[in-house]
Amino acid sequence: MVKVAFLGTGLMGEPMVQRLLAAQIPVVAYNRTASKLEALRVSGAEIADLPEKAIAQSDCVILMLTNADAVRELLLSEASKQQLSGRTVIQMSTISPQESQEIHDAVVAVGGQYLEAPVLGSIPQVKAGELQVMVGASPEQFAKWSDFLKNFGSPVLLGAVSAASSTKLALNQLIASLTTAFALSLGFVQRQGVEVEAFMQILRQSALYAPTFDKKLQQMIDGNFANANFPTKHLLKDTNLFLNEAEAMGLNVSGLEGVRKVLEAAQQLGLADADYSSLFAAINPQK
Ligand SMILES: NC(=O)c1ccc[n+]([C@@H]2O[C@H](COP(=O)([O-])OP(=O)(O)OC[C@H]3O[C@@H](n4cnc5c(N)ncnc54)[C@H](OP(=O)(O)O)[C@@H]3O)[C@@H](O)[C@H]2O)c1
Repeated sequence: MVKVAFLGTGLMGEPMVQRLLAAQIPVVAYNRTASKLEALRVSGAEIADLPEKAIAQSDCVILMLTNADAVRELLLSEASKQQLSGRTVIQMSTISPQESQEIHDAVVAVGGQYLEAPVLGSIPQVKAGELQVMVGASPEQFAKWSDFLKNFGSPVLLGAVSAASSTKLALNQLIASLTTAFALSLGFVQRQGVEVEAFMQILRQSALYAPTFDKKLQQMIDGNFANANFPTKHLLKDTNLFLNEAEAMGLNVSGLEGVRKVLEAAQQLGLADADYSSLFAAINPQK
């Protein structure tokens, strides 16, 4: 049985640790804000007050943090690097392919192993064990760790490190673009006085429909973006990661630049921690 050091018990990390504990997998958890560890302590997790102390007790280190800066801060400090030799790092935060490759290189340089395993799906999918886990690793690493990753959902090997983080950014670009496109059409029909349900019935029967539209419809109609599973600030972070990578590759990103402006406007409305469907409030501002 592997022992897991889990670094980052935020919105996603906390229920992910709960799943490991429910499967009787021992976990030592670390989080910068200690209060977020209390529920996990009650559920049987060991708690570490420093990341290097969690790493030192583990076979495998999982990171579920905001961004690459946070990953570097916790994983690549001098104290943590001293503990990485012989251990496997499974990096599950959404970061860019370049960042993932750099962190891979730093881990390997001190004798550790590194897999990237970003996920599609949010808190309900974590709780149901139905995340799509995209893995960038060697075939040998995948063979060794895929049963373990099944605790979170369905792992798929996409290629070497950077293949999974690229795929994850490509999917999150779609979340941002589809939601922004839908919000604009919804705001338009509302302002034109068209019945929303009549619009939706036509949309649902067309090739233009995406299930995410109905998932976000009620929140947009109600203007209630509380209880975020995936906050606006993280979708903006991922949009920026995609823009930087895609622009450097010579892709025309002008459509997504508009989406970024919408997400920035939502943040300026104080909706950074609200559900990302709150971008509707920036598209369709109250007069
Ligand atoms: N929410 C989703 O639906 C979803 C889905 C798929 C992927 N993701 C990705 O998964 C990752 C985690 O997302 P989340 O929704 O769980 O975010 P979250 O609730 O904001 O949690 C972020 C975690 O990172 C920690 N952190 C941030 N900066 C840090 C720093 N400088 N040093 C130490 N710890 C730091 C936070 O610690 P504190 O508690 O101390 O702030 C917290 O544990 C992100 O990369 C996100 O894009 C999220």
